Amino acid sequence: MTSERGVWITLEGGDGSGKTTQANLLEGWLEDAGRTVVRTREPGGSEVGQLIRDIVLHHRGDIAPRAEALLYAADRAHHVATVVRPALERGEVVLQDRYLDSSVAYQGAGRVLDGTEIRELSLWAAEGALPDLTVLLDLDPSEARVRLDADDKPFDRLEAEQIDFHARVRAAYLGLADAEPARFLVLDASASADDLAARIRARVGELLD
Ligand code: TYD
Repeated sequence: MTSERGVWITLEGGDGSGKTTQANLLEGWLEDAGRTVVRTREPGGSEVGQLIRDIVLHHRGDIAPRAEALLYAADRAHHVATVVRPALERGEVVLQDRYLDSSVAYQGAGRVLDGTEIRELSLWAAEGALPDLTVLLDLDPSEARVRLDADDKPFDRLEAEQIDFHARVRAAYLGLADAEPARFLVLDASASADDLAARIRARVGELLD
């Protein structure tokens, strides 16, 4: 329906916090409500992004921290310009796994780079675009690790980082949410999937027409 306003929702949280499960549930609910949903993600939400995703997640060996930050920013620039903005202009709902808060939390948590600089880099890349809502699934990293271990998938470069790295990621996320309470919905991800889904629906419902 072209008369509807596009809505942009991002999901954030540590690896193993349940973003995919919640995105699936929300997508179904939105479609039942008659909305067209574009499911996407960073890194890798475009063809160019797929190539970048392969480098940042699977390159064997180190990537210089600034190069890594720029790769995520390049993915973001192309993704926002070619996928997110056009979908919002068509009045669709963009449901996106990770956005610039991931860069601030993860690249900033490496301690080498400054979170404010990373955020500015991302905003430059995306021409200032910010989501209508960011759902932060907050989870203790040791609990997240138990969930990831239960999955059979091999760890990518970031998942393989130590617990203290993930503790810094979590703290950075909570700091970002505190700084922008209107954009963030922070949820305790140890709650049941159904409970989390209901809370997310309540908030998303307010954003829809
Ligand atoms: P994700 O797609 O959630 O991984 P998976 O498909 O295994 O669930 O995220 C990939 C990784 O990329 C994740 O560990 C976080 C990291 N990441 C950053 O470090 N910076 C960023 O800007 C983004 C978007 C992701």
